[in-house]
Amino acid sequence: MKTTHQRTVRIGLLGFGTVGQGVWKHIERNRRALELRLGASLEIVRIAVRDSGRKREVEVPSGIITTDTIAVAEDPSLDIVCELMGGTREALDLTERVLRRGKIVVTANKALICEHGDRLFTLARQAGGHYFYEASVAGGIPVIKTLREALVANRFSRIYGILNGTSNYILTRMEKEGLEFSTTLADARALGYVEADEALDLDGIDAAHKAVILAFLAHGRWVSLDDIIVEGIRDVTAEDILSARNLGYRIKLLAIISRDFQNERLVVRVHPALLPSNGIIAGVDGVYNGVSITGDVVGTTVLIGRGAGQDATSSSVISDIADAVFMLQGAPAPVISEEDDGVYRELAEGLSLGGPEDIKAQYYLRLHVADKPGVLAKVAGVLADFAVSIATVDQRAHLLEGTASLILTTHETDEKAMEQALGSLAAMSDLLQDKPVRFRVFDPGEG
Ligand code: NAP
Ligand code: HSE
Repeated sequence: MKTTHQRTVRIGLLGFGTVGQGVWKHIERNRRALELRLGASLEIVRIAVRDSGRKREVEVPSGIITTDTIAVAEDPSLDIVCELMGGTREALDLTERVLRRGKIVVTANKALICEHGDRLFTLARQAGGHYFYEASVAGGIPVIKTLREALVANRFSRIYGILNGTSNYILTRMEKEGLEFSTTLADARALGYVEADEALDLDGIDAAHKAVILAFLAHGRWVSLDDIIVEGIRDVTAEDILSARNLGYRIKLLAIISRDFQNERLVVRVHPALLPSNGIIAGVDGVYNGVSITGDVVGTTVLIGRGAGQDATSSSVISDIADAVFMLQGAPAPVISEEDDGVYRELAEGLSLGGPEDIKAQYYLRLHVADKPGVLAKVAGVLADFAVSIATVDQRAHLLEGTASLILTTHETDEKAMEQALGSLAAMSDLLQDKPVRFRVFDPGEG
């Protein structure tokens, strides 16, 4: 029920696909509770799409759908515009149009923030509006708010976790059902889990976009994907998953953001990793995401929830709409830009970006070799040349006659030494049937 003094907040949507329609549906479904909590009423008054003739899963009043995205972005009567269309070209232009007018944008677009967050946050602050982005990382998990508000007392030495639901779905099914990557990928495509640009999910790019956002939030520094390790799950085979399991590990696509406060080095990386099977993040399956946050005051906090999909993502978008409504009613906006107040920039003062030289890990190696005398000794010799010490070896016959799979794990080794050893192994073309594959073992430091 609307009271006479209650403000009506006018909302425009750019995009009315999976997430846009979810936002509509859930505002309608929980309208009364939501409006009581917010002390304002919400009205979605304009929606821009690409194809206005497309059948939608929710019914909206006639006339509010348009293909004129600019008209929505520049509509002076709107208080909040939700950019739920994706992409980085038109979405950038439209977001800038809204922010320049001092309005509030709510987004789920991690690629756009990762590429242009710096200037968009600055623009929002300078023009007196705001840019909210809870839905951009880990779907329905409130990780942005947790870092920005609930855990504000902390400095974060490590944040790591599973940030891409599609990869996690594929790896989980490969493990549970003994399936190969290609079979599981086909199922994931059929279920609509895989992004139109599959590389985003399969090559670790989507998880890296999210890691970059978390790194900025935690450490005040924007990191380029070109400067960090970004590896996806395409090289993971059913054999790797089984071998890892026999060694007491599960393979997950991890995003890791670690800061060494003594040497002021920040390392951001995304890659498949072997995690001890009994760990909390190792147990996060299917399209779920999980994020472990270690702060110097609170210790370790783990958040687990649905990382993608209409409902979970809408929950985060609506949470941002709620914050925007509070802001419109006089609550101060959260700090987001380093430009004006220096807060975020100072978090990164003296901080340099680390790379392979900062990584030490145990490694898992899979080599497909000719099954003949002396091969194992040669492999061991190459590893020894680079001071890589072998921890375990398992050799089993490969389907291809006269060849074998050699699965090795190493003791803790420098990433650089491992890369050099891999280069030398790869050059042994007379012994190797295909390129050597290595995954890092990740120590979650739990317990
Ligand atoms: P989607 O289902 O493909 O919907 C995109 C919507 O944007 C559609 O309504 C489309 O119009 C409209 N659109 C796209 N380009 C447009 C253009 N140039 N002009 C006008 N309209 C345009 O995408 P989604 O899954 O809802 O994702 C939206 C955003 O949320 C993306 O940034 C995505 O990365 C992010 N996100 C999604 C999820 C998820 O689980 N789906 C989770 C987290 C974050 P038509 O309908 O007419 O084609
Ligand atoms: N493709 C993304 C994922 C969607 O699988 O996690 C949610 O951001």
